[in-house]
Amino acid sequence: MLLRPIDPSEVEAVADVHRRAFGSDVEADLARALMLDDGFVRTLSFVAEDGGRLLGHVLFSRSWLERDDGEPGFPLLVLAPLAVVPESQHEGVGTTLVEAAIALARESGEIGMLVFGDPAYYGRFGFTDAWAKGIRTPHPTEPTWGWQALELAECVLGPSGILRVAPPLDAPEMWIA
Ligand SMILES: CC(C)(COP(=O)(O)OP(=O)(O)OC[C@H]1O[C@@H](n2cnc3c(N)ncnc32)[C@H](O)[C@@H]1OP(=O)(O)O)[C@@H](O)C(=O)NCCC(=O)NCCS
Repeated sequence: MLLRPIDPSEVEAVADVHRRAFGSDVEADLARALMLDDGFVRTLSFVAEDGGRLLGHVLFSRSWLERDDGEPGFPLLVLAPLAVVPESQHEGVGTTLVEAAIALARESGEIGMLVFGDPAYYGRFGFTDAWAKGIRTPHPTEPTWGWQALELAECVLGPSGILRVAPPLDAPEMWIA
């Protein structure tokens, strides 16, 4: 299995990976909009490929922590969405994609990443409650749990604030699971 950034010509094929994984157009439309947005972090948004078939994709977009104390904020990453096609789920593809992206993000000097998802899945990568770290979502979440952060550089997360996200994620319905 090969991990690599997507080629711009693959946006539709990658959106289809999300459509098949989630069984809905919502995440596919979000993934497409994010891949075409200025906030798309192409270098970390790996696709998993095997024998020319796309098996999975992890998508990262740029966000900014707007601090409550008025001090300059800092850039963070948002992981969303993550998808593995149905016939390749439970084979470690999702884990491989996320672990590879975390390693490269850390190496690249990124500060941290956020995800709104199941702690039973993301906990294995070291994600912990983001509310407890003072990081608030741009819109109310439903459920009220599952907002998680992973610190990539030591002792940087701490100042409380609101996360400003890329336009495709900046809509109330994007925060309702
Ligand atoms: C969730 C998903 C990305 C995981 O990728 P994957 O390659 O299947 O996962 P891995 O093989 O790396 O890990 C599998 C383990 O993750 C856990 N897991 C898988 N899906 C999970 C889910 N939806 N919630 C919580 N834990 C999950 C299980 O413990 C599973 O272990 P098992 O195979 O022994 O049952 C993939 O199943 C998927 O695309 N699902 C549909 C879309 C989705 O729900 N995406 C999540 C976005 S937040």
